[in-house]
Amino acid sequence: MNDSITGITGNPREVTTTVPVDVGTGRTPGQGLRTETRVSIRVATHLDGEGLRGMFSRSSAETIHRRFHTPFPQVPEWMLALMLDADRTDKEFLVAVADGKVVGHAMYAMLGGGEAEMAIVVEDGWQSKGVGKALLRELAADAGRRGVQTFVGSVLTDNRPMLGLIGAMFAGSRRAFDDGAYLVRMPLETLEPAAPERNLGRAA
Ligand SMILES: CC(C)(COP(=O)(O)OP(=O)(O)OC[C@H]1O[C@@H](n2cnc3c(N)ncnc32)[C@H](O)[C@@H]1OP(=O)(O)O)[C@@H](O)C(=O)NCCC(=O)NCCS
Repeated sequence: MNDSITGITGNPREVTTTVPVDVGTGRTPGQGLRTETRVSIRVATHLDGEGLRGMFSRSSAETIHRRFHTPFPQVPEWMLALMLDADRTDKEFLVAVADGKVVGHAMYAMLGGGEAEMAIVVEDGWQSKGVGKALLRELAADAGRRGVQTFVGSVLTDNRPMLGLIGAMFAGSRRAFDDGAYLVRMPLETLEPAAPERNLGRAA
């Protein structure tokens, strides 16, 4: 983890990471101005329900389907409650926050045998800016500190962004067909080393 962008608050599992994310190029021709904003990553709390509801209200049907493998017209309240469950004994939830809004959520739940199931979502307007990568890196760091060795994720076979994200981050990932989707295993020891420049998303 890059200490310069990561502050660890009292509880070592309460990560608060801030990453600069490129949100576009300035309009003045030739000046090459780039617009950046900061995205914070922190442990989710029960106070994030409204934020999650807002994030999903801004998300496309495709994003929701890819996250839940179910075409929820509206993500149900029981699912939101599950994504913020107060009992973190064998699981953790992180949120990415930009401009005061929740724009991403990532979670893992331990399965035993050093494995944990993971899932992640970034709302459409914030995709392809490095937020997913930053969230997944923090999630892996947290899980690794708790003894998890391998993330397991169920990914729809046409979900190129997620398969691309996993391939870019975990050199040792392996996939197998499982009931119409890929079951992907990501050994945490094969996570690409944190490089400050790469954490800048597309802001270089
Ligand atoms: C998958 C998802 C979380 C990725 O988040 P993101 O913030 O867009 O990802 P990042 O910008 O951090 O991209 C990291 C890497 O992922 C890959 N990637 C991202 N978007 C991609 C796309 N559209 N096509 C192919 N690869 C892509 C690239 O390798 C990228 O690395 P690069 O920036 O060096 O090119 C996001 O697309 C999403 O929320 N999708 C819907 C929900 C979902 O599919 N969840 C997974 C089920 S568990």
